[in-house]
Amino acid sequence: DDWQIELDLNTPDAKHIQQAAEELRNSDIPVAFPTETVYGLGADATRSSAVKGIYNAKQRPADNPLIVHIASLNQLRALLYSSSTSKGPGETESRDENDSIPPIYNLLIQRFWPGPLTIILPNPPNSLLAPEVTAGLSTFGARMPKSLLALALIKLADRPIAAPSANASTRPSPTEAEHVLDDLKGRIRTILNGGPCDVGVESTVVDGLSNPPAILRPGGISLEQLQQCPGWEHVVVGYKDLSEKDSKPRAPGMKYRHYSPRAPVFLYEAGSHPPESETFTSYLLRGESIGVVRTKFWPASLDKSEKFSAVWEINLGSATSDIARGLFAALRDLDKREVSVIFVEGIQDSDGDVAAAVMNRLRKAAEVKVKG
Ligand code: TXA
Ligand code: MG
Repeated sequence: DDWQIELDLNTPDAKHIQQAAEELRNSDIPVAFPTETVYGLGADATRSSAVKGIYNAKQRPADNPLIVHIASLNQLRALLYSSSTSKGPGETESRDENDSIPPIYNLLIQRFWPGPLTIILPNPPNSLLAPEVTAGLSTFGARMPKSLLALALIKLADRPIAAPSANASTRPSPTEAEHVLDDLKGRIRTILNGGPCDVGVESTVVDGLSNPPAILRPGGISLEQLQQCPGWEHVVVGYKDLSEKDSKPRAPGMKYRHYSPRAPVFLYEAGSHPPESETFTSYLLRGESIGVVRTKFWPASLDKSEKFSAVWEINLGSATSDIARGLFAALRDLDKREVSVIFVEGIQDSDGDVAAAVMNRLRKAAEVKVKG
């Protein structure tokens, strides 16, 4: 049931992957690598000192657990048994009839792995995982990424790889190798460059251990896709976007300031008018420059950008997948131009789950939310 990855070890690319895999096995400095969603910052999930290296490099709060990346189901099964009965951190033989993977996930794994879906699993007593991975929770999140580069890296490292997104904490997630360099230069040694990421927003996180099962973070796999799986028809949305101050989020990472460029983001909900030209003028009179990210409906050139040279406009287009793919890069580009403020045209959540994922990230990034 597992994937065979053929890798010609004599090619230059394969040598780089192999070198990165060696660093994962032996070093405590994390390695950045591409996945189909965003770039990850990886470390051997079985070694505390290596996992601590991730929190250090990112300056990530220690109570925010990491996702464990695996390249085969056997590698995952090894993590579901107590280490007293297990064969070690690498792959084990399949344990036949009594599969340790909770059956609620069978179909999801079949349909969506490898791919942008993270599932929550019970962390056994004497777990092989370093305690820093789970940040004290009794569960862990796991995913099999689709990127061949990522799969090859994990396979060659022959370790489960803990990896959050490879941005500095609070910054937009990196969707290109250069974004990782901008955030982590001097803090890490190796970035595998696989070009821009396909999806552009992180994986969907689901909890099938609760009843009913819940989506803890919207992402690359949609609510509709999940609802079509037996056992998942009544999946509930376990994250909150709009007024989330009160209750404790179930995915610990969802409570932090996140995805933010340096400039404050003004998020205009779908259907709101673009900012008035007086708004622009007031910034420009103070000698400040402005960023605009438009999507589906705001007019093509906002005219304003012609009148005012200090307005930088990025058009993400109207296709949801293009918007997701380009969003974080757009926020980072505008940061590089040192704009004082970024006005973003939001999209309708109801346009599907990738749209919901985009709006979820934008609401977390936004300092000011403008209603329609
Ligand atoms: O697409 C992705 O998922 C990317 C790539 C690199 O794979 N990774 C990623 O990791 O986004 P990170 O650390 O930025 O986000 C992990 C999310 C956080 O919201 C975290 O709180 C949640 O998953 N999470 C991890 N373990 C959990 C657990 N045991 N229970 C609930 N939520 C968990
Ligand atoms: Mg992240």
